[in-house]
Amino acid sequence: MTERDWRVVNSGGSRRVVATKELPGERWLALLTAADCRVEIAQGDDILAASEIAAAFGDHVDAAIGQLTETWSAEMLGALRAAGAALYSQYAVGYDNVDVPAATHLGLPVGNTPGVLTKTTAQLAVALTFAATRRIAEGDRMMRAGAYHGWLPGLLLGTLIYRGTLGIVGAGRIGAAYARMMVEGHKMDLVYYDVRPNEQLANYMADYAAFLAAHGELPVTCRRAATLPELLGACDVVSIHAALTPETRHLIGAPELAAMKEEAVLVNASRGSLVHEAALVAHCRAHPRFRAGLDVYENEPAMAPGLAELDNVVVVPHLGSASTWAREGMATLASANVAAILQGWPVWPEARGLEDALPFLEDEEPPRAAPSIVNADDLGLPRLTAQAPTKEDPQ
Ligand code: GLV
Ligand code: GLV
Repeated sequence: MTERDWRVVNSGGSRRVVATKELPGERWLALLTAADCRVEIAQGDDILAASEIAAAFGDHVDAAIGQLTETWSAEMLGALRAAGAALYSQYAVGYDNVDVPAATHLGLPVGNTPGVLTKTTAQLAVALTFAATRRIAEGDRMMRAGAYHGWLPGLLLGTLIYRGTLGIVGAGRIGAAYARMMVEGHKMDLVYYDVRPNEQLANYMADYAAFLAAHGELPVTCRRAATLPELLGACDVVSIHAALTPETRHLIGAPELAAMKEEAVLVNASRGSLVHEAALVAHCRAHPRFRAGLDVYENEPAMAPGLAELDNVVVVPHLGSASTWAREGMATLASANVAAILQGWPVWPEARGLEDALPFLEDEEPPRAAPSIVNADDLGLPRLTAQAPTKEDPQ
């Protein structure tokens, strides 16, 4: 194995931070430099092996910034803690690759990057919805193959989903943002399935319905489904926005797909393992008018056998958060988590939300707080008091 190159930033810094990938933008490095960190960044696009990551901790490391493609197991987190680290900071909102209970047991905070990627990810789900229903990828392939021989009444007909019924599985930040984009743009009735009611979303939908009625238009409706099959049977579009946990793995399998409408669309821009991918391949093969738009896969970067051959499936390579703005913002939040914990600052108050994280992204003096530590409450970490709002707080 050839030696990996590491880029070192602020080599004189007294705290040592290891990052397993280069991240977009410059602000994240400025924040770490201001926190007196020497940052060592692994070069290359390949995923670092666990042994290589552990070796990079060396005799002492203060924090690690890692990726969703790596397995942050109890063993790895234990090695990180043993090397003296004060936290693990994940460059993603999802953290199913991190053994958070083990981290908590070790007393190790785990950071993630919510808020900043909400709209970008919701937009990708919208893009997949329409790519699937309007057969964009098939049309693109036809054009490039020189197979378009002129306009035809029946060429690549798709589905009109205006005023249809939209289902979201998981009504958290991203699910709710996607729902609003779809409902406001396409006047869809909304059904959501979530263990918790989303009152903010329900209130917004009620106000929007009143707005439409006031303009002489048919209002939209919103309801929370009591069961997943109930949602699946009712919806023209179903988009998954749940976190992957042992309980949600294979949430959508053969029986769930069978409960969906013959011409429905399934979108997944959350985590691949929420869907039984082989069952989806079989379902799409048997139901050519059913469509799927996928951003994520069970065994990334691989796809289930047969998926790539299906014309009724649109596939993109895990691009949910892939706007420059979101990816630079994620880098800022990941480094702000590191800078805050290393300097003994509190955690951003949960009640204030992190909607677009603007104070962290734009203020010259960002808040003296860690934007998001997923096990903050289990570890009893203090939170920034609500009495100290930052200027231009968007809340
Ligand atoms: C991307 O998938 C993320 O979880 O941020
Ligand atoms: C289609 O292009 C139309 O003009 O109807």
